This record gives sequence, C-alpha cells and structure tokens, in this order.
Amino acid sequence: MAIPSHGRASFSTQANALLRKNLVFQRRNKRSNCCLIIFPVLLCVLLAVLQRAIDNELNKDKYKCGCAQVNGKTECGIQYSTLDQASSCPIPNPQKWPALLQLPDPLSRAVRTDGFTFPNLPSESCRRTGNCPVTVLVTGTNRTLGQGMASNLFPTSPLNSSNPLLSLANNVLGTISMPATENFLDPAYSSGLPLHFVRPFCQSNSSLSLPEEVISSSMQLDVECAQGLHLWRNSSSDINDELYKGYRKGNPERKINEYVSAYDFLNSNMNNYNVSIWYNSTYKNDSGFSTIGLLRVPRSVNQVSNAYLQSLFGPGTKMLLEYVKEMPKPGSQLRVDLSSLLSAQFFTYVIIALFPVVLTALVYEKQQRLRIMMKMHGLGDGPYWTISYAYFLALSVIYMICFVVLGSLIGLKIFTLNDYSIQFVFYFIYMNLQISMAFLVAPLFSNVLSARAVGYLLTFGTGLLGGFLFQNFIEDTSFPRGWIIVMELYPGFSLYRGLYELGQYSYLGNQMSTHGMRWENLGDSRNGMKEIMIIMFIEWLIMLPIAYYIDQVISSGSGGKRNPLLFFRSLIRKSNSISRKRSLHKQGSKVFVEMEKADVVQERERVDQLLSESSSSTSIICSSLRKIYPGRDGNPPKLAVKGLSLAVPRGECFGMLGPNGAGKTSFISMMIGLTEPTSGAAFVEGSDIRSQMNDIYTSMGVCPQHDLLWETLTGREHLIFYGRLKNLKGSALTQAVDESLKSVNLYYGGVADKFTGKYSGGMKRRLSVAISLIGDPKVVYMDEPSTGLDPASRNNLWNVVKQAKQDRAIILTTHSMEEAEVLCDRIGIFVDGSLQCIGGPKQLKGRYGGSFVFTMTTSAEHDTEVETMVMSLSPNAQKIYHISGTQKFEIPKHEIRISDVFKAVENFKKRFTVQAWGLADTTLEDVFIKGA
Ligand SMILES: *[C@@H]1O[C@H](CO)[C@@H](O)[C@H](O)[C@H]1NC(C)=O
Ligand SMILES: *[C@@H]1O[C@H](CO)[C@@H](O)[C@H](O)[C@H]1NC(C)=O
Ligand SMILES: *[C@@H]1O[C@H](CO)[C@@H](O)[C@H](O)[C@H]1NC(C)=O
Ligand SMILES: *[C@@H]1O[C@H](CO)[C@@H](O)[C@H](O)[C@H]1NC(C)=O
Ligand SMILES: *[C@@H]1O[C@H](CO)[C@@H](O)[C@H](O)[C@H]1NC(C)=O
Ligand SMILES: *[C@@H]1O[C@H](CO)[C@@H](O)[C@H](O)[C@H]1NC(C)=O
Repeated sequence: MAIPSHGRASFSTQANALLRKNLVFQRRNKRSNCCLIIFPVLLCVLLAVLQRAIDNELNKDKYKCGCAQVNGKTECGIQYSTLDQASSCPIPNPQKWPALLQLPDPLSRAVRTDGFTFPNLPSESCRRTGNCPVTVLVTGTNRTLGQGMASNLFPTSPLNSSNPLLSLANNVLGTISMPATENFLDPAYSSGLPLHFVRPFCQSNSSLSLPEEVISSSMQLDVECAQGLHLWRNSSSDINDELYKGYRKGNPERKINEYVSAYDFLNSNMNNYNVSIWYNSTYKNDSGFSTIGLLRVPRSVNQVSNAYLQSLFGPGTKMLLEYVKEMPKPGSQLRVDLSSLLSAQFFTYVIIALFPVVLTALVYEKQQRLRIMMKMHGLGDGPYWTISYAYFLALSVIYMICFVVLGSLIGLKIFTLNDYSIQFVFYFIYMNLQISMAFLVAPLFSNVLSARAVGYLLTFGTGLLGGFLFQNFIEDTSFPRGWIIVMELYPGFSLYRGLYELGQYSYLGNQMSTHGMRWENLGDSRNGMKEIMIIMFIEWLIMLPIAYYIDQVISSGSGGKRNPLLFFRSLIRKSNSISRKRSLHKQGSKVFVEMEKADVVQERERVDQLLSESSSSTSIICSSLRKIYPGRDGNPPKLAVKGLSLAVPRGECFGMLGPNGAGKTSFISMMIGLTEPTSGAAFVEGSDIRSQMNDIYTSMGVCPQHDLLWETLTGREHLIFYGRLKNLKGSALTQAVDESLKSVNLYYGGVADKFTGKYSGGMKRRLSVAISLIGDPKVVYMDEPSTGLDPASRNNLWNVVKQAKQDRAIILTTHSMEEAEVLCDRIGIFVDGSLQCIGGPKQLKGRYGGSFVFTMTTSAEHDTEVETMVMSLSPNAQKIYHISGTQKFEIPKHEIRISDVFKAVENFKKRFTVQAWGLADTTLEDVFIKGA
C-alpha cells in the first residue's frame, strides 16, 4: 500500500469514475435493460402488424377504384365502381348531375294527424296509399305576391326526350334517396329508388331515359310523379313552430311531419327580391356513412328564383339549373394510420416507462446508502449531479432515438411524416423534464420497491387518464382552454398532448398524402404543441434547481439533515470560523475539568496544546465535540456526545469501546460529515470538519458498519471506482487494486471478479475494509470491521489493518476486546457520550485491572465459608458476582501472593467439596465492564 499521495481528484476524474461505474452497472442490470428495449420494440412491431392488417384490408378491391374488362382491356373508373369504391377513383371530368330536391319519405310526409292540427294539411289517409303530397310552407309580408310566387314553385313542363337534361331542368326532380358526402356519384341514380317529378297535380307515371352524360351506359329510370303542395302561413314564427313540431323529436307524441322546404318572402315586391329558405340538412342514410344534405339545396334555391322571375315576367322567363357538378379530383387510396390514431396512448406508455427506471436508480443508491459512501470517499455533489443527470439524459436520448429510428424503419407514419426536428426538440425537452422530476421526487422515497410501484402506477395511470379523460377535453372545443393548460402542467399530460398533436397531423397528412407537422404549423392556434413545449421548458428550468436544493437540504442520502438556509449559513460560517475556534477550546477546558479522570484530562490538555501549536503530525484532533439531538415527540433533547477531546497521530490505531448507545456512532457520523457537531471542533489533517469536509473526504476512508456495495458490481470494480475517486489513474490504479485485493485475500480464485451480491458476509466485510484503505487515505474510520467474521477471516482482516495503520490514523469501533487489544495502540472507553478512560491496552489493564479475579463454585450452603476464606486472604476483596454457589471476588494484586491463594484453597478443599475454582488476571473485558 505504499502509494504516494495523489491530491484531490479533479471534477473530470470524479465524473469519469462515476460514469464508468454507471455504465458497468447499467450493463449488468439486464432485466431492466431488456424491458427497456423490448417494450418499445414489441409495441412498434404490434403497431406495424396491425397496420399491415389494416393496409391489407384497405388494399382489397372493395376500397379500390372499380375496374372492368371493356373490349379486352381493363378499364378503371368511377363508372365501374360501387359507392365504396368510387371515393378512391380519380375523376378528371366529374359527371353532371341534374340537381335534385330532397323529398321526405312518403310515410313521414306532412299530414293532418291528431297531434298535428295545422290548416290545409292533407288527410292522413294518403299515408296508406303512399301518395301523400310533399309540402312547402310559404309566408311573407305581401300575401298576394307570396301566394302568386308559391304557385310557380312547381312548374309543369313537357318532357322532350331528345333533350333530356333540359327536360329535367325545366321540371323539379326530387328523390327520397339520401345524398353522399360528395357528389361525384349521386346515389339517387344508382340506389334503385324512383325519381319523382314534383308537380302541382299528378296524372300518370312517366318514364324517361336519362342522357348519356349522366350515366354512360344509358339506363332507363323510372320517374314518378309526386304532388307538390304549397301552404300559406301567417308568419315565419308559425312556420318555425310547425317545422319544429314536425321534427321527429319536436312533439311529445313523436309524430313525424316532414316538409320539403319553407320560404319566407319577407318584404319582397316587384323591385326587391328578398327571401329566406328553410332546408333540412340533417337527412342521413343510417346504413351508410354520415352525409350532408347540403348537396340537395341548389334546386330549392333555383325553384324560388324561377318562381319570382315568372311572377314578374310571366311563365316564359326561366332561369335554368341544368346540372350540378363536383370539382375534379385525383385518385386516392383510403388510408388509416394506426400509429397516428393510437400514438398518444401507446407512446405515452413507452416514453413515461423511463421515469420509473430513472427514479428506481436514484432511490436504489439512496436506499443502499451508496450515495453517502461515494461522498465519503470524495465524490462531490457537483460531479454526482452532473454525471447522474447527463447519464440519465444520454440513456433517455438513446432510448428515444432507437425508438424513433425503429418506428421510422417499420414505417410508422407518426415518425416519418412529422418534421424530425420538431420531434427531437419535443422529446428532448420532455426527457429533461422527466429526469428533473425523478430527481425531485426521489427524496420522497426511501425504498426501491415503493418507488418502482409508484413509478409504474404513474406510467399506466397517465396513459389511461390521458386516453380516456384528457383527450376528450382536448377534443371538446367548448372545454375552457385555460383548464387544459392547467392540466398540462402535469408533465405526463403535456407529453400526451404533444403525442396527440403529432398523431393528428400525421393522420391527416397520411390521409391527404401530404406531410405532418412542420415548424410553421406551430403558429396554428388549435395546435397545442407550442404551448406544451413552453410549459415543459419552463417547468424544467424551475424543477431542476428545486430538486438540487431539496437534495441538499433534506436528507436525501447524501448526508444528514441540513439547515434549509444552507447557502446562507455557509456564508456566515466562513466569516466567524476562526474566532469561534479560539473561544471554543477556552470554554472547553473550563467546563469539564473537575468531573474527569486523570487520563482523560491529560488527553484534553494534549489536545489544547496541539491546537495551539497547530502541529501537522497529528491526523485527527477533536476538541470538546458535542452533539445534542433535539427532543422529539415530547422527549427531552438527547445528549449523544458530551465534549469529547481526542488526538490521534498518524500511525496510530485508536480503538473505541463502549456499550451500544454510548455515542460512538454519533461521534463517527460527525467525523465523516454525516451530521454536524452541535458545538466543538475537529480537525482532520488540518481541515475543519465544519467547513472543509470536501477536502477531508479526499483523504478519508470509511468502512461502515453495514457493507454498502452495489450487488451487481464485482469487488474489483468497486475498488477501481473508489480508487478513481481517490485520483488513482492508469497503472497506479491497477497496481493499487491488485495489491488491495491480495491484502484482503480476495485476489485469488476469481473472487475479485464475482458480483458482490454473491459474496459471503466475510468477503463483503473484507472488501469494505479494502475500499476504506484504497487510495492511501490519511484517516480511516472503521465501524466494527470484524463483526460476523469467522476466526480465520478475522485474523486475516486484522493483519490487513495492522499493516495499514503504519502510515495513517485509524479510528476503530468494536465490541471485541480481543480485537482492540490486538489492533489498537490506544483504547478509549466511551460511555454515555464521554470518554471514561483512555490509554494503551497494557496501561489500562494496569491502571484499572490491578486485581485478580477469584472464582469458586461450591454447594450453595457453603457460600459464607467461601466468603470468610476469601476475606481472610485479603480484607479488601470484593464480591462482584454471586449466584447459587458460584462466587466471584476481586482481590487487589498487591495484597496477596498467588501461593497463599493456592494454600488457602487446598485447606478449604479438605473441609468442603469444591466443584470448581479459578484465579485470573484481569482482562480488558473486565476493564471495560468496570469502565462502563
Ligand atoms: C302586393 O303585391 C301586389 C303584386 O303582386 C301589388 O299589386 C300590391 O300592391 C302589393 N301590396 C302591398 C301592400 O304592397
Ligand atoms: C325537343 O328538343 C329538340 C332539341 O333541343 C328541339 O329541336 C325540339 O323542338 C324540341 N321539341 C319540343 C316539342 O319542344
Ligand atoms: C342508404 O344507403 C344504402 C347503401 O349505402 C342504400 O342501399 C339505401 O337504399 C340507402 N337508403 C336511402 C333511403 O337512401
Ligand atoms: C292567419 O290569419 C288569418 C287572417 O288574418 C286568420 O283568419 C287565421 O286564423 C290566421 N291563422 C293562424 C294559424 O293564426
Ligand atoms: C329533417 O331530416 C331528418 C332526417 O331525415 C328528419 O328526421 C327530420 O324530421 C327532418 N325535419 C323536418 C322538419 O322535416
Ligand atoms: C330583407 O328582409 C330582411 C328581414 O325582413 C330585412 O332586414 C332586410 O332589410 C331586407 N332586405 C332588403 C334589401 O330589403
């Protein structure tokens, strides 16, 4: 272990050490790695498979433009298509369709029924014969004019079969078949339902051949007659009332009375034509796609215009509406992109799944107290935060890149259609936010299992709530936008919203064969992307410092509780630390002198002297260290350490003995920076533990009471990591690690390269000791290093410590007197927060153990005889133990000779039966029991 001192590890060295450790740790963490990779892959593959199935279905002829064999050639086009197919055909020259009037079904045309008593309606009997007239309601300020115009609404023009289109235009042609969403192919001509000429009076059915232009294969269509009826109403509110009551849901009896249309001529006169039209746009074909009746509006407009013209200029004047025609369109294929539809829900799971991973990793290091361990071996908060953050960020980014690349390769539209730079910015901001959030909530958990449970609950909860609640709010335009913003303050919903928007854009982009979201789309007010990016960015900026602050203030595993005003305090502390130091030890020497034993007082004086001369050969100097834990739940404050003064020079191993709860651990905690002393000072290698802990960490080694190890790292990796933290590099590092492994007997037999999770208790203990010694620390604290070891391992360990103490100061706590005797140069017995005695093992035995212990077992009735015998040997003998026949006496050494004892016992044996007896020199154990 003769390695020269290395100075403090730089930021980059620490960062490097932590990064390498994390990488190894991650590599080992197979299960979570597998899940991390498999989950998105499975999801993407599942989506791809479903997408393939949907594409296959849509690729079937049913959804493709219809084709037919014409003269040996395959021709495709709307004329060979069914209604389903037609929508995907290219239509460079749309058909002309005669404009039709939507007529109500014969069974629901307006009639006079019980619940429906408006004047002049036809009697209900017509419904039985199926020849009810279709009714139009009219009103206006000038009734004469209005009724005159209304009589022109249904012209009667003879049919001219040589010019059918014109014939149709001259008459009012109606249909009861429902319109389609667009008018490339009017279902009225293919549905098989008859067309109707609407005329004032019906005589006979006529049949008409429709023109070539209408349907390329000329077909005979039945055109029937339907009677058109116009009824005058007194006011537009009467009409409104009547229409409303006729509506399926407008009257209590659910009697349906449907009208074709209604007109209000308002203030029209000979010079001024002013009309308003009621039309029913809700005609829908229940068995087909939802449709819009607006396509049937042009005819009713033309009708009323003609009526006005004719009442003005006579029946010869006409304004003909020959046909209506769609605009041309290119061929299209029906496309449904599943990834866009399901993206928000599915991908929310995938992306939030990282949150539990990060959280668990953070909580693991806290639960296992590894963070403290790293800190005690010199890992600063700065490198820890930087590297942990950067590490998780890198992990997340790689994960997302893999995810996006995989998705793109499989061809999921949400990735390929949207601008990659938008996706990158969006995911990047979110990843940062997610990691900050994990850092922020990690202090709330003390246990990996609960952290994992909550993490995954959050993942699934967010996905489900997003899909079934939040999305409805987004889509409901009447929902106040402000509340949506409030909900988006929860990062999971921001993520959901972002994915939802990407999905919407790619869905539409895919359907229209264009692109998805571009940067310019962010300006769109309905696009929530810009808002959530801003929200997430701001949240990230706020969350990260808060997380850092909380980590510093609350016990986050980095150390004990610190004052919330920590920044503030460290400023104050700097300014008065020097003056405090002087006043402290003055006060110390006054207060405690009278109560203490000579050796303890001597130690205190030595400390005072050392402090005044500021010698550097003494590694550890504690001066009047006190620790008071504040009272809780009504208990009084607990005084754990009462003014401890101690100096341990280099090369010394100081053993600290004491019963449980004596304050040893409180003392060690103060020395290793886990808690702060209430008062008093301590200097380690000249640095003050109250303000220069970070310097101390670099020259300090700790072997904690419980082994703090990563279960999936090997012993060698542990040593390499801590060696790096201690600024060892290159061959020096390898050499130090090898030597260290050899010294604790972990080098041979491949033990060094096994996971520490598989180590036995003894091996872990030895590794902990090796860790505390690596990198040549000047000061080492060992908290019960040999607990739970078998004798062989213990001897082994002792040799290591013996060897190690040559060049450094070691403070060791133990319950084993034997251990203290073997290892320690000086021993202090620590009881009730203060040292009872201090000195070398021999010295202590001499001072406190100036007596023999005499033990004798006889039958119980001879107890008094035994006692008189002992008293006769030495009147100052003291009975220290008595239980039914067995008695222990302490006899001052200077009062007896051993031969006298033997003689007395021989005599005694002649008179009584003695089952057993013994005479022993004091052990350290007796000193301890006495001291304690
Ligand atoms: C109503 O219209 C007729 C023409 O149709 C006109 O002669 C008459 O003066 C108008 N009545 C009013 C009150 O304007
Ligand atoms: C029918 O239409 C043709 C062509 O437009 C026209 O020549 C003929 O006069 C029309 N016949 C009648 C009876 O209107
Ligand atoms: C509704 O559409 C189906 C086909 O989509 C058609 O068979 C049916 O006749 C239509 N009904 C009406 C009233 O238009
Ligand atoms: C409409 O007005 C006429 C005369 O102004 C009146 O006789 C009739 O009762 C009114 N009809 C309704 C339904 O109010
Ligand atoms: C309008 O059309 C719908 C759908 O066909 C029908 O239910 C309703 O009764 C119609 N309304 C009127 C006032 O005719
Ligand atoms: C048409 O009628 C409406 C409603 O009565 C009226 O407000 C408007 O001024 C009229 N327009 C003309 C040009 O008379």
